[in-house]
Amino acid sequence: MVVASIARLLLRVLKVAIRLLLLPLTLALLLLSPFINGFIDKLDKRYRVKDDWYIASYFLVAVPKYIWSVYQSRFQFWYLFEKQVAKNGDHLALSYPRPLLEKGEYEVENYTYQELYDIVLRLSYVLYYDYGVKEGECVAMDYTNKPLFIFLWFALWNIGAVPSFLNYNTIGAPLVHSIKIANVKSVFIDPLAAGPIRHTEPEILKELPDVKLNYIKEEDLNEIIMNPASPQFLQETSKRSPETLTDFTPACLIYTSGTTGLPKSAIMSWRKAVIGCSLFGYILRITNRSVVFTAMPLYHSTAALLGVCAVFSQGGCVAMSNRFSASAFWKQVYLTKSTHIQYVGEICRYLLHSKESEYEKKHNVQIAYGNGLRADIWQEFKQRFGIDVIGEFYASTEAPFATTTFQRGNFGIGACRSYGTVVNFILSYQQTIVRMDPDDDSTVYRNEKGLCEVAPVGEPGEMLMRIFMPRKPESSFQGYLGNKKATESKVLRDVFRKGDAWYRSGDLIKSDKYGLWYFVDRMGDTFRWKSENVSATEVEDQIMSFANYILSAVVVVGLKVPNHEGRAGFAVLQLSPEYLDLKEDVKFLNEMLNYLKNSLPKYAIPIFVGFVDEIEHTDNHKIRKKSYRNQVLPRGENGDQRFFWLKDNKEYTLLTDSDWDAIISGKAKL
Ligand SMILES: *[C@@H]1O[C@H](CO)[C@@H](O)[C@H](O)[C@H]1NC(C)=O
Ligand SMILES: *[C@@H]1O[C@H](CO)[C@@H](O)[C@H](O)[C@H]1NC(C)=O
Ligand SMILES: *[C@@H]1O[C@H](CO)[C@@H](O)[C@H](O)[C@H]1NC(C)=O
Repeated sequence: MVVASIARLLLRVLKVAIRLLLLPLTLALLLLSPFINGFIDKLDKRYRVKDDWYIASYFLVAVPKYIWSVYQSRFQFWYLFEKQVAKNGDHLALSYPRPLLEKGEYEVENYTYQELYDIVLRLSYVLYYDYGVKEGECVAMDYTNKPLFIFLWFALWNIGAVPSFLNYNTIGAPLVHSIKIANVKSVFIDPLAAGPIRHTEPEILKELPDVKLNYIKEEDLNEIIMNPASPQFLQETSKRSPETLTDFTPACLIYTSGTTGLPKSAIMSWRKAVIGCSLFGYILRITNRSVVFTAMPLYHSTAALLGVCAVFSQGGCVAMSNRFSASAFWKQVYLTKSTHIQYVGEICRYLLHSKESEYEKKHNVQIAYGNGLRADIWQEFKQRFGIDVIGEFYASTEAPFATTTFQRGNFGIGACRSYGTVVNFILSYQQTIVRMDPDDDSTVYRNEKGLCEVAPVGEPGEMLMRIFMPRKPESSFQGYLGNKKATESKVLRDVFRKGDAWYRSGDLIKSDKYGLWYFVDRMGDTFRWKSENVSATEVEDQIMSFANYILSAVVVVGLKVPNHEGRAGFAVLQLSPEYLDLKEDVKFLNEMLNYLKNSLPKYAIPIFVGFVDEIEHTDNHKIRKKSYRNQVLPRGENGDQRFFWLKDNKEYTLLTDSDWDAIISGKAKL
């Protein structure tokens, strides 16, 4: 008791001290900034000081401000939102091209900050008094992308409830699990997304009889919340922000499929939602004049946090599409006058594969940001769609930090982290790449002392992010709700010193001599074959550059072959609709082989090849690689599939049962 109150007192004193010191320091730096800027010009060529100063000057102001807001218990995103309403009331906050009955036609709905705020307060009234939603509760939303998603989300934040964004494709046991782990009191359901949840309703009610499932009648609800005469509800500050709340408690919950089985609920802390997203938005040059278009599901962190929160933190406008469509993409971008678009790598490929759209060059987009744009299509993407800047970032839902780039011209293509010398130096305390075990790229290397080592330039290693208080990891890394085991498995201890702790990204990253970082692979995505490291990504890129318009997608994984060391390359091909007649065409495969022989090391050429109608994706358009890694040969799980193999290292031919026997017994050499 006594210790606790002394600690609390010390913390108070510390907070006051920080407030007394940091504000004058920030002021001094701001006053000096013209002089500092002159000096910076000279240094820029060599150390890219300007880009760094752009970031640091913001950071120096934003962080003390944020600490101050924590001290006052006003750190929730709601207050940032209220500030934007006061400052930018008549600016657009939301823009939604609502699809009309006539296919391919849209009506663009717009909401200013003030309109959005009023709607949110009216909806809060409905939620609070009609549905009984109370502060501190967790409330699930099963919603597709539309304005009501944002209305509900911010109404819950106003009330002081924690929104939990269900993936509306989830059905059955994983859905029950998602609702259960978050201790959800009620679920609000979009009519467009009601199918899976209706289907699972008996199981939900059996296991969780107290959960209220609210199927929303949108027309009725809209009539109330759009009517200026409807009552509003603004939560009392002391109820929305009780003193006990810390800034690493959940702002919202987001589900990730993770590596095994049931979904995990990742905690999105206030700290990430407020300070992380503000900084991110600022680095991507989002201003109160920007419109950021997203076609990615809002229940994922990329669209919700790095889209909506990052944009609102800067007073910009979010334009969203109900769902991604390659053919309708640029039209919606054009209609909403977007200045930024969000992507994942697969979206860029789909767009490059689609027919020319009359809108693809008519838009205002200068910046595309996202994650997973591959180096082989980077420039083509920029050129074809006339985009100046790529903001490739590295982030994952649960990671405590994101990396960013702001790539112009020809420097830095393919990188996912690009800063100047100063920021790199500061970040080296927080982010690092460690060497991997030479025999197993899924474990980190430990030296004689049992410690890890920083990977040399150019060598792929696992990216780690420091957890500042190893005894209290939740202050830096909140992990998964109610899943200690999964949370702990993402923490690596005794890395550079006994007792330190780092968050494991599970991704292989490499650096170059300029200090830029590049994503290499998901860990385990590189596989070993003939004692060599094969990068699945590299093989995929080569196959794609041979058959870019013939294939619409390709996946390469390493397969275990009985009685063989390592994993043999297996390429899964999905043909473009115009080239379906090339399915199982051996001549095509061998033309590809000739190309690969000239562009890949011999050991990297896929040993097995298969065709599928459609490569499996997660809901966020990411390829589900794991399912291919366990492919059953020679004829698939049901014995009805056909595969090809690289016979005698010469040509691809159909894989027969007797070939397979010869491979396993070692008679046929791979
Ligand atoms: C928008 O941002 C610009 C530049 O930062 C600023 O001068 C202007 O006052 C802002 N507009 C509003 C309405 O806040
Ligand atoms: C909404 O905003 C867009 C982009 O600024 C504009 O083109 C459109 O006309 C607006 N829609 C309405 C209904 O005002
Ligand atoms: C394979 O990768 C590991 C880990 O990065 C590395 O130590 C090893 O030298 C590589 N092997 C070859 C043959 O390049």
